[in-house]
Amino acid sequence: MPILVEADSTTAGVLVNALPAGSPVVSRAEDVDGLLTGRGHSSVVIGPTIEMATAAALAERIRVGHPATSVVLIRHDLEPNVFAQAMQVGITAVVAADDQPALNTALSRARGTWEAIHGPTNPGERDGRVFTVFSPKGGVGKTTMSVNLSVALAKTRAEVVIVDLDLAFGDVAITLQVIPERTITDAAESESDLDFSLLQQLLTRHESGVSILAAPTHPEGRDQVTASLARRVIQTLRRHFDYVVIDTPPGFDDQVLGAFDETDECVVVATLDVPTIKNTKVAMETLDLLHLIPNNRHLVLNRADEEVGLSLANVEEILGMPVEVSLPSSTAVASATNHGRPIVLSKPDHAVSKAIEAFARTLAGNAATPTSTAPAKRGLFGRQKK
Ligand SMILES: Nc1ncnc2c1ncn2[C@@H]1O[C@H](COP(=O)(O)OP(=O)(O)OP(=O)(O)O)[C@@H](O)[C@H]1O
Ligand SMILES: [Mg+2]
Repeated sequence: MPILVEADSTTAGVLVNALPAGSPVVSRAEDVDGLLTGRGHSSVVIGPTIEMATAAALAERIRVGHPATSVVLIRHDLEPNVFAQAMQVGITAVVAADDQPALNTALSRARGTWEAIHGPTNPGERDGRVFTVFSPKGGVGKTTMSVNLSVALAKTRAEVVIVDLDLAFGDVAITLQVIPERTITDAAESESDLDFSLLQQLLTRHESGVSILAAPTHPEGRDQVTASLARRVIQTLRRHFDYVVIDTPPGFDDQVLGAFDETDECVVVATLDVPTIKNTKVAMETLDLLHLIPNNRHLVLNRADEEVGLSLANVEEILGMPVEVSLPSSTAVASATNHGRPIVLSKPDHAVSKAIEAFARTLAGNAATPTSTAPAKRGLFGRQKK
């Protein structure tokens, strides 16, 4: 999947529509490097407002560090010296800002190069990203975050599946008010020949477009889902969805550890109470010891406005990581849960919804893309001028 780098949010909103759904978008060239260290990306598309010197430096870093990734440069003016500069730093294609066919050709050639090096991807397969929502404690807001994050991602036209790995007491289905006919337990019988066509039959679709792989209906179903099955399920789903969001039980179990092996971004939910912060600290140290997700952990402080003697600054100091999102306590959140319509859907203008949507864009590397301004149809600048 390509990565788009473009500083101007309107331009980014137009360009991203010309890329496969779910392509990450960043506004600064230096943010591309972090994305490239995760899952493979066949190309980086540099938008027209990125300065040539910045584009050249990025292309040089990619050429040396990620030789299988092609760089496509989009410019408003195709002056001859642009081609010369592009060649010097190994940019594979220079495309005019209004030339979608040329962009498509460049992207498909990039994919060809990628596959020649890394092996073919089956037609229609994706390289989806896995976001795991975690806390060692119960009741802190993991499911609330998983569900709202999934819905927020689905609003960006991406294909999203939420996997309920709280195998004994999962409540993703009830939170979204769906009644699943099949659950993850049904995958256990076919673990050895699990494929997407089988998994597809186990998914329940929510009105938001999010697909749900529900937890077993009874706690004992948990024992049938081994850690290797959990991993296999995630590996299979990520090839068919842009995002796989995983809700987890409190703390580590084998299945959660299996999921961590597949996780690109870990969302750590905490609240302002000493036992939660202490256990979160221990959990982060455990992840360090196991070398799991060392870099891509994101701290969310839920109910951050509660006056309980601990401050946001205390939390950051104890955990040694910044709070990326802080969500206030609000009866609207609990009421949305109780009515089976996540707050991001039922009250999109609520502060909590806006914070979660902004976080979803950041996680997706999509901070530069205002979804509301993106045109519904695919097309570059030429078609936008009306
Ligand atoms: N910011 C908030 N304001 C008000 N209520 C909230 C907020 N966040 C979560 N809640 C409510 O707190 C309760 C627990 O949240 P949630 O189920 O998301 O936690 P959890 O970490 O998944 O719990 P468990 O570990 O039991 O699975 C729910 O009723 C939810 O609606
Ligand atoms: Mg939960």
